[in-house]
Amino acid sequence: MKAAGPVPVPAIQALPPGLVNLADHEAFARTRLDDQAWAYFSGGAADELTLRANRSAWDKLHLLPRVLRPLNGGHTRVELLGRTLAHPLLVAPVAYQRMAHPDGEIAMAHAAASQGAGLVLSTQASVSLETVASAFGAYAERGPLWFQLYLQHDRGFTRQLVQRAEAAGYEALVLTVDAPVSGARDRERRAGFKLPAGVSAVNLAQLAAPPANTSGSLFDSLPAHAPTWADVQWLQETTRLPVLLKGVLHPADARQAAALQVAALIVSNHGGRTLDTTPATAAVLPRIAAAVKGDLPLLVDGGIRRGTDVLKAVALGARAVLVGRPCVYGLANAGAIGVAHVLRLLRDELEIAMALCGCVNLDQATSELFFDQIP
Ligand code: FNR
Ligand code: LAC
Repeated sequence: MKAAGPVPVPAIQALPPGLVNLADHEAFARTRLDDQAWAYFSGGAADELTLRANRSAWDKLHLLPRVLRPLNGGHTRVELLGRTLAHPLLVAPVAYQRMAHPDGEIAMAHAAASQGAGLVLSTQASVSLETVASAFGAYAERGPLWFQLYLQHDRGFTRQLVQRAEAAGYEALVLTVDAPVSGARDRERRAGFKLPAGVSAVNLAQLAAPPANTSGSLFDSLPAHAPTWADVQWLQETTRLPVLLKGVLHPADARQAAALQVAALIVSNHGGRTLDTTPATAAVLPRIAAAVKGDLPLLVDGGIRRGTDVLKAVALGARAVLVGRPCVYGLANAGAIGVAHVLRLLRDELEIAMALCGCVNLDQATSELFFDQIP
C-alpha cells in the first residue's frame, strides 16, 4: 500500500454510557445529528417500505438451534476473494461521512481495520481515497479494502479514479448498479437537505460539470452516467482488480453477472434508498443463491443489526455482509471508538448466535437452521 504521508489519526473519544446494541447506537445518534444529517443518513426512498422490510425480514426468520454439538475450536473465519477474513463483516460504502463526525472516513477506516472488518469506500467519500487507504493499511489484522465505484459522465475521469484506487492499494472495485439516479427521497426534501459547508465528494473535485440538460427530462441526462452491461465489461478490461456488482436483485441479472465472471455480487437494495417497494434483501438472497448455484460468492446488505442477522445471512447463502447505517451512527456517537464498538458488538453477537445454534464455524450455517425449513 502506497503511503500518502503520515497516517492520519482520529480523535480518541469516550463511548457514551449505556450503549449495548446497535439499536442503542441508532437512538443515541439521533441526539447527535441535526435534522438534515439525520434525514440523509437514516432515511430511505419514498414511503420507506423497503427500508422497513429490510429490517423486519431478518426478524421474521426463526432460528431452530441444534444442541449438544461440540463447540471447541469454533471461529467466525470466512474465505473471500482469495483471502481469509477473521469474520464476515464489512463496512458498507456510505457517502459524506464527515457529516456525521469531523474525522469521517478516517475514523471509519481506523475502526474497521482495528476490528479486522473490511471497508468499502464510497466514490462520494468526504476524505481522499489515498488518505483512507493509508489509515486502513496501518493495521496488520485488517480486512479487505475495496473501492465503491460510481461511473462518471467523463469516462477518462472514471479511468483515472480507478487508477488512483489501484495505486492506493484498494483490492477490488465495487460497481454500484442500482442507482442510475437517486431515489425519491421524500425525507431529505422535507428536511431541506443540503450538504453542509466543508463536506464534499473530494475524490470527484477535478470532475468537470456534466453537460447541461435543458430538456427537463431525467432520461436526457442519464445515459452517460448509468452503467450498462457493456460498461461492466469495459471496467473489467480497464482494471486489474476484481470487479464486484452491488445492487443486484433479479436472478436473471445475477446469472448474467456470473456469465461475465464478475468476482462477486452484493445483494442489496441500497438500504431502501433507491427503488421503494423492492423486496427485502433477506427475501431475495436465497433466490439469487439458487440462480448462481455457487458460481460466484454472494454478499448481502440491508437492515443487518444483530449477530443473528449475520448468521441468517450466511445460512441463506451469503459469504459476508455489509453494514451501513449502524457504522455511521457509531461514528456520530464517538468517532472511531464508536464504530469499533458497533463492529465489536456485532461480532460478539455473531459468536453468541453461532454457539447457541451449535455452529462451530460458518460452513455449518445452512438452511437447516431455519424453523420453516424443518418438516
Ligand atoms: C448509502 N449507500 C451507498 N451505496 C453505494 O454504493 N455508494 C454510496 O455512496 C452509498 N451512500 C450511502 C449513504 C447513506 C447515508 C446510506 C445509508 C447508504 C448504501 C449502502 O452501501 C448499503 O447498501 C446500505 O446502507 C445497507 O443498508 P443498512 O445496513 O444501512 O441498512
Ligand atoms: C446515497 C448515495 C450517495 O445513497 O449512494 O446517498
